[in-house]
Amino acid sequence: MDRKIIRARLLTFLREPQTPDDTDSFRYFEDGGVLIEGGQITALDDFDRIDPAGATLIDHRPHLVMPGFIDTHLHFPQMQVIASWAAELLDWLNDYTFPEETRYSDPALCATMAKAFLDRLTEHGTTTAVAYGSVHATSAEALFSEAHARDMRLITGKVMMDRNAPAALCDTPQSSYDDSKALIERWHGAGRLSYAITPRFAITSTPAQMDAAQALAAEHPDCYIQTHLSENHAEIALSCQLHPEAVDYTDIYARYGLLRANSLLGHAIHLSDREIGALAEAGAKPVFCPTSNLYLGSGLFDDARLRAAGLTNAIATDIGGGTSYSMLQTLAEGYKVLQLNRQRLHPFRAFHWITRGNAVALGLQDQIGTLDAGTEADLVVLDAHATPAMALRMERARNLMDELFTLQVMGDDRAVVQTYVAGRAQKATAPASA
Ligand code: GUN
Ligand code: ZN
Repeated sequence: MDRKIIRARLLTFLREPQTPDDTDSFRYFEDGGVLIEGGQITALDDFDRIDPAGATLIDHRPHLVMPGFIDTHLHFPQMQVIASWAAELLDWLNDYTFPEETRYSDPALCATMAKAFLDRLTEHGTTTAVAYGSVHATSAEALFSEAHARDMRLITGKVMMDRNAPAALCDTPQSSYDDSKALIERWHGAGRLSYAITPRFAITSTPAQMDAAQALAAEHPDCYIQTHLSENHAEIALSCQLHPEAVDYTDIYARYGLLRANSLLGHAIHLSDREIGALAEAGAKPVFCPTSNLYLGSGLFDDARLRAAGLTNAIATDIGGGTSYSMLQTLAEGYKVLQLNRQRLHPFRAFHWITRGNAVALGLQDQIGTLDAGTEADLVVLDAHATPAMALRMERARNLMDELFTLQVMGDDRAVVQTYVAGRAQKATAPASA
């Protein structure tokens, strides 16, 4: 069996850090070793305590190794709508995003773009993604197939949408059920893949299609559910107008059985106390998408308010409403959103969030999100000196917290030296030495 030891400074979290001084919440090794066998981490320790017998040594000193980043909400068919000029969400969808997504009816395009998508993720240090496909089954098929070939953990699903979109982008309640069902049977639980039942949002699904989503959800309790909730005021008004039986936007999804512990609700910005209570009761997971929320002018996610209600918030890029594939840049913008709400995001909590925290939100903390022995060997190698500006800042860094905050505020793909997926290096460049 392939056996390798990665030597570096190592950081992995045991639980969410409560304060910047909560050093019991993580393990940090100044000279650590991660033993990887067959795509799994089998030991984590000081380097000189790892048995080197038969192992290839990969020396990443002086860089910092962490678990690979987890992106809990982004759109596969939106790589080429990033940086589209629009006033707000619904214009952006109608003018750029829906026309672009029509191209994903083409299996050849989907196959090419699936490679590009997973390359972009891993070059930014992301090793697990929860992605929306387009309405076309072929989009989810291509993404599953490419992730499977790379042994990469991926959650995706074909979007269900049957109204308020171009005809070329609409399915029907029956076809959306049939296509989703076939994809679940083919891919859910295959290797590292899981299916997410994906009604796009309340505006683009008729009640009949919501019934179909409800049936799929009931038949597949271990499939994820992903949709969008309360991102923007015009979206909320139209959603409630289209589903007059519901008392509010959250209630639309509740009525169709779509709120549960493995439901991921993108944005969740403008919510009443009643809605927050309903989400908390269901254990559903709001997903904070800071670069997107600022870019589309959607609003400021109220992290502290949701947490106070007992919710577990995930964090994500939301490509292509989001503007960067980098979870570091996502943290940078997330920090600023929280600042505007007079909330503080300290770097230990931030790096927990994009690793173990997002794994917890997905119920996958025993598989990914840490460097613990027995978990999957998804790792990122980070360099806080990656650019001249970062190196200058790092001259004044006093400790690990300063290093992490430099990465959080100034880092992007240039700070990612290497990414390992199931123990395999993804970047073409060789590590510092071997
Ligand atoms: N709401 C429904 N679809 C979308 C989408 O593709 N992006 C964002 N940001 N919000 C949505
Ligand atoms: Zn989205």
